[in-house]
Amino acid sequence: MADTHKIYFEPVDIEMEVGEDEKILDAAFRQGIHLMHGCREGQCSACKSYILEGEIQMERYSTFACNDAEVEEGYVLLCRAHAFSDCTIELLNFDEDELLGGVPIQDVRTRVTAIEPMTRDIVSLRLTAIEPATYEFKPGQYSDITIPGTDEHRSFSMATTQSTPGEVEFLIKKYPGGRFSALLDDGLSVGDELHVNGPYGSFTIKDGHALPVVCIGGGAGMAPILSLLRHLNETGSTRPVRFYYGARTAADLFYVDEILALGEGLRDFEFVACLSESLPGAGSPDGGGMPPGVSPEFGNVTDVVARREEALAKCEVYLCGPPPMVDAALAFLEQQGVPNDQVFHDSFTSPVTVVTT
Ligand SMILES: Cc1cc2nc3c(=O)[nH]c(=O)nc-3n(C[C@H](O)[C@H](O)[C@H](O)COP(=O)(O)OP(=O)(O)OC[C@H]3O[C@@H](n4cnc5c(N)ncnc54)[C@H](O)[C@@H]3O)c2cc1C
Ligand code: FES
Repeated sequence: MADTHKIYFEPVDIEMEVGEDEKILDAAFRQGIHLMHGCREGQCSACKSYILEGEIQMERYSTFACNDAEVEEGYVLLCRAHAFSDCTIELLNFDEDELLGGVPIQDVRTRVTAIEPMTRDIVSLRLTAIEPATYEFKPGQYSDITIPGTDEHRSFSMATTQSTPGEVEFLIKKYPGGRFSALLDDGLSVGDELHVNGPYGSFTIKDGHALPVVCIGGGAGMAPILSLLRHLNETGSTRPVRFYYGARTAADLFYVDEILALGEGLRDFEFVACLSESLPGAGSPDGGGMPPGVSPEFGNVTDVVARREEALAKCEVYLCGPPPMVDAALAFLEQQGVPNDQVFHDSFTSPVTVVTT
């Protein structure tokens, strides 16, 4: 058995044990401690912390998430870190409510109930929980789905909420040759079993907060935002909500009817379709198949948000989708002075695209 060490977290005054063979973030989850995290694969920096004392080594990570100078100074990505002595670690970000009160991680056997194309490259995958028969998670969180026949997984955000605790929907973008997503064409069928582990992620909405909500999503980033919208609607939220959705053309929009219907149940809601590869006029009802009730804006989603939102620093911003979109929007939000604790984001990275130097 591997040697174990004690980890003491400051400033929250929590102590736990970790084996040398497990990553510190995983050891924390195992002991019911929910540290701040995003991708859990060394790419997003959400788990970045500071080593005050002790010996730590990291597995492969992206230098965009933690650069060499930061590592030299003592910063560490807890999702990649192994401890080789007792350590004291300063948490740079933490959510006091989540820390000891997050949803426990569950292993769920599920069965595929539907695989339906939504657009040319986005598929809705619906699963029903078999054992246990329900799956607990918070709106906006994600799961790891095991790639059948392997011990590898890919992460996907739930589009549903606890109103259907045994029925879960994921929205998945297909990549040619993608280890998991390519299975949606011919490797996976209704009736097949999939193993789901989760929930993970800090992209959740807090009941009781009052700031206006601005959601910015692109592509399959629709999934966790749909979960948030469904939750806001189901809980009768009175918060103003704006949803900016980036797509290439009108043909890449989906679930628009449901989004507009959810919005009708909210006090103040607007859906803005941001088309990056259409020219003004091309997406009009007579020109390009724009769904009824939607007036498109043209350009990248971040540029559209910049044109339309004047008081982002007084909003909570929920941001998710392809990594370049998320990175551009994060830089813009920083420029606008939006406080870090008002920004929630998930970057849809793949473990095969980790950039190291
Ligand atoms: C927290 C989190 C939540 C996520 N939620 C979702 C979700 O709800 N829906 C969803 O579709 N995906 C989501 N992802 C991404 C998902 O986990 C997979 O990484 C993605 O589906 C690719 O997996 P794959 O096995 O199909 O392709 P892989 O076998 O991993 O990759 C195959 C090829 O596809 C290309 N590729 C893969 N990912 C990217 C990328 N991001 N940008 C450019 N090219 C890429 C590369 O060329 C790569 O070589 C999420 C990721 C994270 C970290
Ligand atoms: S870098 Fe650790 S959670 Fe993303």
